[in-house]
Amino acid sequence: MTGPVKTYVVGGAVRDALLGFPVKDRDYVVVGATPDQMRAQGFLPVGKDFPVFLHPDTHEEYALARTERKTAPGYTGFSFHASPDVTLEQDLLRRDLTINAIAQDIDGSLIDPYGGRADLDARVFRHVSAAFAEDPVRILRVARFAARFTEFSVAEETLSLMRQMVASGEVDALVPERVWQELSRGLMEAKPSRMFMVLRDAGALARILPEIVALDGVPQPAQHHPEIDTLVHVMMVIDTAARQSASLAVRFAALVHDLGKGTTSTEQWPQHIAHEARSVTLVEALCERLKIPGEVRDLAVMTAREHGNVGRALEMRADTLVKMLERCDAFRKPARFMDLLLASECDARGRTGFEERPFPQRAFLQTVLAAAQSIAAGEIAAAVSAAHPDKPADAIAQAIRAARVAAVAAVMPHKKADPHH
Ligand code: CTP
Repeated sequence: MTGPVKTYVVGGAVRDALLGFPVKDRDYVVVGATPDQMRAQGFLPVGKDFPVFLHPDTHEEYALARTERKTAPGYTGFSFHASPDVTLEQDLLRRDLTINAIAQDIDGSLIDPYGGRADLDARVFRHVSAAFAEDPVRILRVARFAARFTEFSVAEETLSLMRQMVASGEVDALVPERVWQELSRGLMEAKPSRMFMVLRDAGALARILPEIVALDGVPQPAQHHPEIDTLVHVMMVIDTAARQSASLAVRFAALVHDLGKGTTSTEQWPQHIAHEARSVTLVEALCERLKIPGEVRDLAVMTAREHGNVGRALEMRADTLVKMLERCDAFRKPARFMDLLLASECDARGRTGFEERPFPQRAFLQTVLAAAQSIAAGEIAAAVSAAHPDKPADAIAQAIRAARVAAVAAVMPHKKADPHH
């Protein structure tokens, strides 16, 4: 026999309210009900096998209390056991972290059988039970939470369980889409570097992003990089991007712009001649492997290739600048070019002691693009094709390029200072 049906708020909503953070969406757990009872009350089943329903009016998620057991390695290998006799405590026991395993009754009282509140107070991510190991996505979740809840650290026993899961190959079984989903969410948090440090400590970074691990301990010239270590630099760059509230594409570009430094031969250290080209190759392969969306990939590849050029922009000639704009397709995609400039600024300031340094290259290249855009391309094309009616295409391209170069030269400060140049 089963008791009365009871509903509780669970998970992130309870956690965030206790932390004093705004609550976005509320998840509910329902104890003592069958799927048929839920349907009879108008709840809409979410998936075929998932015992999860949407409320007919609020569309909030209501999951039947369930226990879970694993049938196969990897993310899709679940089977669920949901039945009216699964208790709230059994449901909470199989959740990932104690801070996510607190339930709240309709009357506001908390049901906290696994010490979630104590861990919230102590700022600790601690797994609830051995059932944590049933889902390797949880390794990524803990890392992502570390990027969001920046005062929290991972309990030693949870870290060692995560290490065991990595050692037994669990992380290798994750599908790329799921990895990217968690990584991209973590990149959007307040301090994304913390996600990568947790993944490294768990041994998972070497499985997911070995290209990042390869930067660990790689030296850079002290004059431009007081932090020396390339991994330290890259972590500072992504946190700088987060402080600037940069988009996901900019944050990812910041993460991978220097991958090529991981394959510099040690005889060349601390110089990294032509690392940009090696970065491009590595970024392309990484994006392919993790099935990273095209827009995010394109900015990352461009930033890998151009970040050095952006840094040197103030010393460049007008025709070199115009070639860079053309290479970046900046006339058709000006917003993406602005993203390149922001990622490059994060690169320049993500260095110990350089955090507040001005980066005039960004405003300068914005001016350069505006100048190059301002030419009357239509009129030039019409005039040139009237003069060369037989073979106008090359002549038009040349004339437009020349007009752009002239327009750019006119906004270059040193040109104004020296009219003979
Ligand atoms: N959960 C879990 N294991 C997972 C995913 C979810 O144990 N792999 C449980 C946790 O109790 C979690 C709840 O399901 O709190 C809701 O999951 P979800 O909405 O994905 O995450 P939240 O914890 O609410 O976090 P976020 O704020 O990122 O949505």
